Amino acid sequence: MFGVSHAIVWLVLLALYQCEITGTSQWTVGPLQTITGLPSPLISDTWQILGPFQIGTREAAWGSDPLEYHGGFPSIKYNASESFKSALGLNGSVTWSETTGIWMESMDKCNSGYGQMSLSLSFPEVNWDFLQSVYGWSAKQYQAWMRGSILNEGDTSENVLLYTDQILEYAIDGTRHWGGDFYSYRRAPHIIHLRPGLHTIDIRVVRDVRAMGGTGEPSTTVRLELARPRRSLEIIKSSVLVPDVVDGVLSSPYISIPLRNAGSDWVRAESVDVAGVSTHRLDDLSSSFLLAPGQTRPFAFEIDLEGYHQSSIEVTVTYAAANTANTTTIPSTTSINIPLRHRSRHDAQKLTYPHPSGIVSYAMLRPPAANASCSKIQDFRAPILLALHGAGVDADSDQQTHSLDAVVDLCAWVLFPSGVTTWSGDDWHNWGFADVQAAVDAIPGWMARFDWIGPGVDVQSWIVSGHSNGGQGTWYILAHHPDKVLAAAPVSGYLSIPQYVPYQFWHQADPVILALVQSSLSSYRHQLLAPNSRGIPILQQHGRIDDNVPAYHARLMSQLIAEANWSSTYVELPDRNHWFDGVMTTPALQEFYRSSAALEKRAMALDMFRVVSANPGDTGPKQGIRIRRLEEPSRVGLVDVVVEQIDADTCFFELKTRNVREIGFQYYDCGIVGLRVDGKELVADISRESLEWPVVKGNDGLWMESLVWDTSTSLRSTIQMGGFDAILRTKGRFTVTYEDAITFVKAQQIARNFYQYFAADSLIAEYDSSALSSAPGNVILTSLTREPLIDIGEPSPITIRDDGLHLRRANWDERFPFEEISGAIFVSPLDNHRLALVVWGVDEAGLTSASRLVPLLTGVGSPDFVVLDKSMAWQGVAGVRAIGYFDDEWRVAERSSYV
Ligand SMILES: *[C@@H]1O[C@H](CO)[C@@H](O)[C@H](O)[C@H]1NC(C)=O
Ligand SMILES: *[C@@H]1O[C@H](CO)[C@@H](O)[C@H](O)[C@H]1NC(C)=O
Ligand SMILES: *[C@@H]1O[C@H](CO)[C@@H](O)[C@H](O)[C@H]1NC(C)=O
Ligand SMILES: *[C@@H]1O[C@H](CO)[C@@H](O)[C@H](O)[C@H]1NC(C)=O
Ligand SMILES: *[C@@H]1O[C@H](CO)[C@@H](O)[C@H](O)[C@H]1NC(C)=O
Repeated sequence: MFGVSHAIVWLVLLALYQCEITGTSQWTVGPLQTITGLPSPLISDTWQILGPFQIGTREAAWGSDPLEYHGGFPSIKYNASESFKSALGLNGSVTWSETTGIWMESMDKCNSGYGQMSLSLSFPEVNWDFLQSVYGWSAKQYQAWMRGSILNEGDTSENVLLYTDQILEYAIDGTRHWGGDFYSYRRAPHIIHLRPGLHTIDIRVVRDVRAMGGTGEPSTTVRLELARPRRSLEIIKSSVLVPDVVDGVLSSPYISIPLRNAGSDWVRAESVDVAGVSTHRLDDLSSSFLLAPGQTRPFAFEIDLEGYHQSSIEVTVTYAAANTANTTTIPSTTSINIPLRHRSRHDAQKLTYPHPSGIVSYAMLRPPAANASCSKIQDFRAPILLALHGAGVDADSDQQTHSLDAVVDLCAWVLFPSGVTTWSGDDWHNWGFADVQAAVDAIPGWMARFDWIGPGVDVQSWIVSGHSNGGQGTWYILAHHPDKVLAAAPVSGYLSIPQYVPYQFWHQADPVILALVQSSLSSYRHQLLAPNSRGIPILQQHGRIDDNVPAYHARLMSQLIAEANWSSTYVELPDRNHWFDGVMTTPALQEFYRSSAALEKRAMALDMFRVVSANPGDTGPKQGIRIRRLEEPSRVGLVDVVVEQIDADTCFFELKTRNVREIGFQYYDCGIVGLRVDGKELVADISRESLEWPVVKGNDGLWMESLVWDTSTSLRSTIQMGGFDAILRTKGRFTVTYEDAITFVKAQQIARNFYQYFAADSLIAEYDSSALSSAPGNVILTSLTREPLIDIGEPSPITIRDDGLHLRRANWDERFPFEEISGAIFVSPLDNHRLALVVWGVDEAGLTSASRLVPLLTGVGSPDFVVLDKSMAWQGVAGVRAIGYFDDEWRVAERSSYV
C-alpha cells in the first residue's frame, strides 16, 4: 500500500543542491531527516474510490455533494457491497472501486520532497459521449471521492508541506479543507501538523472542463506531494518578484519576497535587506509583518538601489518567532541569492509595480522601437497595445513576450500584463483588471526613470488584444471600460463561462434561485454588454477548427455586435485550431494593430449610443456617461443616449433609461447646454466639465440634477457593488479576522486560498473593532459568535442577535432562528468605502459551508448575501434559506432576492 523508491531520495539530494539558502537560525527544523536516515512521511499508492456523481460547472463551492446526505464521505466506511444513488451510475447507482497511483518526480526543489503521488480517475462504464451529445460539455464534469492515507512512521509529530494539485477539497482525519490547488499553482502548500501514525486522507475530485479539458474520455489526474520544510521561515525563491536590470538600472524599485512560515509559532518579519541596502515596506507601515503558523505572505517593498551591474542580489530577511503579538525571541536571519536578468531598453522587460491590494505585481513592457515611425514626431503620445495572456500562461514566457515580434516597429507601448497570476487572478475581471490598470499607470514612472526621449505615452488609449482567456479579457475591458479602448482584437476568446461550459448539471432548485445565482454573473457575460462596444474598431479572429474555445463564441459575438448596430471585422481561419505560432500576428492582425495605433479617439465619438451595465462597481463610462446605480441590482441597466450638436461647442443630450437610478457625466467633447432624462428637462452647467456630476432619479421617479454626490456613509458606494467579488477590489491588503481556535483555522484557510489563487496578501488578526478600523483594505470576518456580533461601524444589513439572524428588509427585519439555519455569508460596509465579507456559522459545519463561498474561482456566483441551511451540503443552491442582493441603503433588494 505504501511505496517510495530510492530514486526519489536521490532526486531530493540533487534538488537541495540547487536551493542554496543560507542563514542563522535559532529554530530551524534541522538538517534533512531523509538524509540522516529518519523515516519519511509516505502517501499510500492504493486508493478507494466512490463515484461518479453529477456536479454543475463551478458548483462545488455551494456544497452539492450527494454523499453529504449520507453523513459525508469521511464518515462512510468502505463496503464493497454497498451502493449509492447517482444520476450518472449504471442502474442509477455507484459502488466502491480502487485505483493505484504512480510515483513521480518531486516538484518542490527547495524542500525535501518525497516525490508526488499521481492519481488518475476515470469511469469508462459511463457513456460520456452520449451524455455529451445531449448536455454538451457540462456532461464531462463530475465529482467523486477517493480515500488513501498518509503515514508518519517516525515517533514525533512534524510539520509537513502538502501540495494538492488539481484538488479543490479534501479532508484529513475527517477535518475538511477547502481550496487546495485547483490550477496547480503550488504557491501555498497546506502545512499540516502530522502526528505519528496513520492518517486518512479523503479527496473530493471535482472535474472541470475549463481547467482540465473537454476532449476525449473525461479522466482526472490529481497529484499529492508531501515535503518536509527545510526551515521554519522560508523565502519562496520561485515566487520572488524582481524587475529586470535594464541598461544597468533596475527597471523599477518594487520587489516582492514571499515568506512562508512552516513552523507552529507566529513569526514577525522585522526587515528585509537587499544587497546591503535597506528597504521600505509598501503597505501598512504601522503594523508589524506577522505570519500566522502555516501562512505565506509576500513581503512587498521598495528599494533605493537604481544602478546595478551585478548578476544577482543577496536578500536577507531578519525575523523572530512571536508567540503573542508582543513577545519576541532573538532574531534570526535567512538569505537567498536572486539572479538578475539584464535587458536593453527596447526589449520586452519585466516591470514591477504596486497592485492596489498592497502587493507587488509585474508586467512585461516593450517600449516603442527606436525606428518606430512615430519616434521622429515631436510630442507624439503613442497608445498602449495590451496583450492579455491565456489561462495558465506566464506573462514572462517566450510564448507570450515574443508573440508580437512581427510588429516590432509598431508605434505603441506594448504591454503584456500578468494579471498577477497565470489565470490572471479572476480571469482579468476585478483582480486582473486592477492589475492591468496598475501596469499601465507604471509606464510614466518607467519613462522618468530612464530619461526616455522616445515617443510619449497616452495612458488613456488602449489597443486591447489577447488570446483565449485573454481574448475573453479583451471582451471584458471593451465592454466595461470602453472609454479607455481605442481598438480591440479578441483572438480565440470565449464570451463567458456559462457560454463556454453550460450550467446544466447544477442541483435541481427553484429556478428563481438559479436565476439569482446566474444574474450575479451577468457582468461577466460580455454578450449582454455588446452595445458598449459601439464606435470602437474590433477585429475578431478565431480558428475554424478550434476544439478548445469553439468558433461559435466569435461568430455569436459578431452577430450580437451587428444587432447592436455596430460591426466587427471577423476573420475565421480555416484549418486553424486554438493556438499556433504567429496566432497574434496574422496579416489581418498586423494591419489592425498598425491602423489602430494611428487612430484618434476623439474622432470616434457617436451621436447615438447605448450604455449598459450589470454592475456599476466594475463598469466605467461610455463617452463620459456612466451608470452609477441600478434600481434592481440583479438586472442589467441601460441608458440610450442621443447627442444633438447645437453648434461647435454646445450640444443637447436626450437620455432614456431602464433600471437606472443614478448617472454620472464625466467629460464630453462639447459643453452641455441641455439635458432631458426620461422626458424630464434638466439644467446643465457647462462650467463643471472636468468633474463627474450626478443625475439622480428621485423616489417620485423623476430625474434631477444633484449638485453633489450623496456621500452619506449609509449609502452604498459604487466600489462596494457587485456581490462577494467586490472585496477583490480592495485598496490595501486584506485582513482576515478570527475569534477562537475554530475560526482561526478558517482564517488560515481563507488567507491561504487568497495567496494561492490571487497571490494576495492577508494579515490574519484577532477580531476587535480597532482591527477593522485600522485595516487598510477590505476585511473578511470569520465568526461563530451568537451575541450582537460584529460592530462593523456602519449599518450592517445582517445582524446576529440572541434570538437569531436578522436580515434588514425595507421596513422590518426578517428573523431566522438559529435552529433553522446553519450559517451566512454577506458583504457589509466599512468606512472609507471599504467592505467586510462576513463568514458566519451557527456551528463549525455551517462556518465550513459559508467559507466555501469566499471568492476563489470565477463562475461560482457572487450575490450580496446567502443564508445557508444544512441541506446545502447535498442540495447545493436548493438548500439556501435566503439569497440575493442589498439595495443602496444596505437593505434587502426585495425584487432581487429570495427570502
Ligand atoms: C455493507 O453493505 C451491505 C449492503 O448495504 C450491508 O448489508 C452490510 O451490512 C454492510 N456491511 C458492513 C460491514 O457494514
Ligand atoms: C444493473 O442491473 C442489472 C439488472 O438488475 C444487473 O444485471 C447488472 O449487474 C447491474 N449493473 C450494475 C453495474 O450494477
Ligand atoms: C502589546 O503591546 C501593546 C502596547 O505595547 C499593548 O497595547 C497590547 O495590549 C499588547 N498585546 C498583547 C497581546 O500583549
Ligand atoms: C526596425 O528595425 C527592425 C529590426 O531591428 C526591423 O525588423 C524593422 O523592419 C525596422 N522598421 C523600420 C520601419 O525601419
Ligand atoms: C444604426 O445607427 C445609424 C447611425 O448611427 C442610425 O442612423 C440607424 O438608425 C441605427 N439603426 C438602428 C436600427 O438603430
